Amino acid sequence: MSNDTAAADPIDPTTTDAWERLMEHDEALEGSLREWFATDPERAARFTHDAADLHVDLSKNLITQPTVDLLLELAAQTNVLERRDAMFAGAHINTTEDRAVLHTALRRPAGASPALVVDGQNVDEDVHEVLGRVYAFADAVRSGEWTGVTGKKIETVVNIGIGGSDLGPVMVYEALKPLADAGIEARFISNIDPTDAYETTADLDPETTLVIVASKTFTTLETITNARLVREWLLSALRESAGLTSEQEKEAVAKHFVAVSTALDKVEEFGIDPQNAFGFWNWVGGRYSVDSAIGTVLAVALGPSVFEELLAGFNAMDEHFRTAPAEENVPLLMGLINVWNVNFLEAETHAVLPYSQYLHRFPAYLQQLTMESNGKSVRWDGSTVVSETGEIFWGEPGTNGQHAFYQLIHQGTRIIPADFIAFATPERPLKDGEQDVHELFLANFFAQSKALAFGKTEEEVRAEGTEGELVAARMFSGDRPSTSIMAPALTPSVLGQLIALYEHITFVQGAVWGINSFDQWGVELGKQLANQLAPAVAGDESAIEAQDSSTAGLIRYYREHRQG
Ligand code: F6P
Repeated sequence: MSNDTAAADPIDPTTTDAWERLMEHDEALEGSLREWFATDPERAARFTHDAADLHVDLSKNLITQPTVDLLLELAAQTNVLERRDAMFAGAHINTTEDRAVLHTALRRPAGASPALVVDGQNVDEDVHEVLGRVYAFADAVRSGEWTGVTGKKIETVVNIGIGGSDLGPVMVYEALKPLADAGIEARFISNIDPTDAYETTADLDPETTLVIVASKTFTTLETITNARLVREWLLSALRESAGLTSEQEKEAVAKHFVAVSTALDKVEEFGIDPQNAFGFWNWVGGRYSVDSAIGTVLAVALGPSVFEELLAGFNAMDEHFRTAPAEENVPLLMGLINVWNVNFLEAETHAVLPYSQYLHRFPAYLQQLTMESNGKSVRWDGSTVVSETGEIFWGEPGTNGQHAFYQLIHQGTRIIPADFIAFATPERPLKDGEQDVHELFLANFFAQSKALAFGKTEEEVRAEGTEGELVAARMFSGDRPSTSIMAPALTPSVLGQLIALYEHITFVQGAVWGINSFDQWGVELGKQLANQLAPAVAGDESAIEAQDSSTAGLIRYYREHRQG
């Protein structure tokens, strides 16, 4: 697909023949997961596929083979695979910003052939030049060759960023924390609530702290404000503890502050030496950037070899998405099943339930990836969509969620498709007496999707001795869709595969809906208004009066009640 065809008018999926037939199919669909499993011993095998190291069982979704066949036709009729190829080739599929969408280039191996040349630029060379600098820097910090201004080894690296410049790095660090082997802890500041910067730095020694200011644009209010706060904290603490003079301040900033950005001129304006800045490119969306230099904090805390393995995992899933036949292509199938759930089964939300405490930030990461990407009501030609788009992604690790919100997933009135994620090998193989605790944990993982799919019938409830009105309360309808994703272990490669899987699922949904999953204009109005409201918040009476009565009332409440 050329740039022109990539940007061609999107196809309204609801006008396709496949959509029409899916509607008929939905109406006519009979049976239940109980019946489908009972009558088809091959069901699990038929709907289970391996993608790189991920083992993905789709069989507990409310699908039959005709559903999948029709969904694949829908993908064909909405040019999903052509758009996929256009993305990998560097076509400007992000039309509203006239940009290529090339996060997949960030994980191509060095020396891949043929080289990827986009807009006249050898992208592979650019990517590996920056990676080399990031790794050299990480090695220097980890070995102690790079020290703070007073000559002490770095012990804490603080990443300041927000959105894509925070959520990916935090999630990956939390997931792979056991691999941090250089005595360097990573911390993260994102919120402009000043308590975030305060609490994160309160117990730190500035002499052993390195700060990474991560911002694609280097204009984000939260990040620049936090970077200034932390610079002030660091310099004043060094003045006190190490007698830093004003002449030495520049050197202190150079030894304790580095930056990651696509806007290296702005990095310099901030006072960070461009030598200590790592770039990336406007073809990397913020929420797709954890595998760019935005991951510098990970290379420092976890090490370049861990980061390399992570990238290799991303690439393995990219290759699967790019080359696997459609009927076995896991991101394609999962994206299409999400479309089925949203547009035909009327699901509004989607739970992501990792059975791994180390993945506790994965749902938060996915919220930005999926909702900033597909929370759109117009297609890429400006026309209004006529079907639902987006899904509300949310979740918590199991088993905690089981004791909080699973009740609604099991017995509520809404359909909530759920992705369960688990690993065969425990990160911490602990025993409670003779009991292997990981097996207890996994028994819960297996039990939940089984309960959702097959439920509990009236006969089964009565057979347990329950009578009267309690019977209904104890019944489970079943037919609550879920996908189970397993892998041998939560390695860096498997984590890369998981992230890339969800990136591509998000892509597939956006492509079917005809929306541009790579812009985020919806966050702009709030930012604009926050700037405009600043004088009113500071007490300018005429600015307060100019507001609507609700906003004016809230600002007055703030002005009257603030102490300190
Ligand atoms: O406001 C939304 C957003 O632009 C996200 O898309 C992005 O990840 C985040 O802000 C941070 O942006 P930056 O990396 O430019 O500071």
